Amino acid sequence: MEKRLLVIANWKMYVTTPKDASRLAKAIRAEVRTARKIDCAIAPAFTLMDSVAKELKGSKIALAAQTVSAHESGAHTGDVSAEMIKALGCKSVIVGHSEVRAGGQSDASVRAAMKRSLDAGLRAVLCVGEHERDHDHGSHFTFIESQLRSAIADYAKADASKLIIAYEPIWAIGEQAQAAITPLALRETVIFIKKILTQHFGREAGMAIPILYGGSVDESNARALVEGGDVSGLLVGRASTTA
Ligand code: PGA
Repeated sequence: MEKRLLVIANWKMYVTTPKDASRLAKAIRAEVRTARKIDCAIAPAFTLMDSVAKELKGSKIALAAQTVSAHESGAHTGDVSAEMIKALGCKSVIVGHSEVRAGGQSDASVRAAMKRSLDAGLRAVLCVGEHERDHDHGSHFTFIESQLRSAIADYAKADASKLIIAYEPIWAIGEQAQAAITPLALRETVIFIKKILTQHFGREAGMAIPILYGGSVDESNARALVEGGDVSGLLVGRASTTA
């Protein structure tokens, strides 16, 4: 079977107006038409969902959400629940992005948000990643393992197909980033994540969970990261706002 890559565009708060969102979605749609072996999803801000959904109608590009509430419904001002996201037409949702975690989202809350997402029938793109670049000492492994195990604890083999893992080392994300990870260091961490997933879900189910990389991905390094890092795709921030 041919290997398909998953590329998720995380627009964060870079794209702000419905007009810009429509224009960019249209341009991405045109680019993706000729891209073979790539599955693509766009995660716009909630306020732009409607405009993007209209632009993507009839295309193969899926709609995703950038975050999800840990709560099911009720008195949670400003929150958007998994059911609401599902009703918008989203297929997947980013859970536990480091920028959301930095705002106070705990591991327990990530776990609850995962549960809400899966219960609503969404696929969860679970983000994990260490703060500091310290691959020489391997301390990032302990950190990633604890984030990962905490989030997947409630799930078994049958749920594995509802999960996507996005490895996003925080030091490599956004404008403050030093640089993207090297393909070799990425490969090493991907092997480690696969080991945890297979221990938890069993060999076959664990190996089938896609692992994406995110953090300073752009046109210049995407191919090397995918091929050298042995990932199933990419979660792209800044660079995803250029079609
Ligand atoms: P970046 O962000 O590509 O701008 O580094 C990636 C992400 O945070 O998902």
